[in-house]
Amino acid sequence: MSRCYKIAVFPGDGIGCEIIPPAVSVLELMGKRFGCQFAFDEGVIGGAAIDCFGTPLPEESLRMALNADAILLGAVGGPKWEGMPYAVRPERALLGLRERLGLYANLRPARLFPALVNASTLKREVIEGMDLLVIRELTGGIYFGKPRGVEPYDGGERGINTEVYTTPEIVRIAKVAFETARGRRRHVTSVDKANVLEVTELWRRVVSDVHKDYPDVTLSHMYVDNCAMQLIRNPKQFDVLLTTNLFGDILSDEAAMLTGSIGMLPSASMGTDATGVRRAMYEPIHGSAPDIAGRDIANPIATILSAAMMLRLSFGLENEATCVESAVMGVLDDGCRTADIASNGMQTIGTKAMGRRIIEKLATLGHL
Ligand code: IPM
Ligand code: MG
Repeated sequence: MSRCYKIAVFPGDGIGCEIIPPAVSVLELMGKRFGCQFAFDEGVIGGAAIDCFGTPLPEESLRMALNADAILLGAVGGPKWEGMPYAVRPERALLGLRERLGLYANLRPARLFPALVNASTLKREVIEGMDLLVIRELTGGIYFGKPRGVEPYDGGERGINTEVYTTPEIVRIAKVAFETARGRRRHVTSVDKANVLEVTELWRRVVSDVHKDYPDVTLSHMYVDNCAMQLIRNPKQFDVLLTTNLFGDILSDEAAMLTGSIGMLPSASMGTDATGVRRAMYEPIHGSAPDIAGRDIANPIATILSAAMMLRLSFGLENEATCVESAVMGVLDDGCRTADIASNGMQTIGTKAMGRRIIEKLATLGHL
């Protein structure tokens, strides 16, 4: 009897609605080919949910997420909802899901596909062979710290956010980093601003303590400003980059661009909810890109690679995940490019066509 997995799908806003269908098609095909059943449940979140239900994360969508074995998410947000109060903006859907599902570990692999070496703005010798993984703490830090808000102050106003981390929060994300490094090149670079911020002085101390249990993994510490510079100077020095919520947000966009386009970077967010159930959500790291939405030009690869991460990390389907990654590599080798990754006047194809080419490639790969 084949196992049936429930997948909650939230396309969200903007290009989210365009990049999700090809990724769902890939999952459907993999399910059929390898004898597991995927039952998809599609929900509304973000700006679309604000328009329909007056809230970015309707109860119904949250229930869907809690009922699922894994979640596939597109992107949320857009200029239409930009002026709204923070508590009801589209982004709250994402932050609410991360918080309610306890998704504290965000894995963002930045790997250069050989075919895209010319799509990067950096020189070939700097990026060729680059393969790093940003591990971003996702449910703490300044994104969730209190006090927060904007209040009247001295005849004007003042805005407040709080960067806060507790020892257990740092311990659990550090463990993820060291464990994950064991399956890679066994080096962790922990990124902080310990020369200025006490909270990251604690971060550095706790990470060093946790490291004592992982003598087979090497650890170095780096200030975030230096790290931003090192990423473009010599990105190949990094294996696992462990960092806080805010620094991880910033550095992962930078790392994404090294691979040629932010449209290439998948992510997995893992954790345990308040009832102790393991949870996982998969999404591209790019946003809803309202400027290119609805034109069939967005790159679906980050979402398709996120689906591959789902196959591997949530369902243990390692061969199937590798199969999807090989198909992506195959179409890139064939010269297929969406506009964001095209170089030297190469011909480009749209979102749907890229999805179709990857599906066709999967069909030619046979059983791995
Ligand atoms: C990301 C995004 C989100 C974040 C936004 C949309 C809230 O930039 O996942 O990196 O800041 O975490
Ligand atoms: Mg971001």
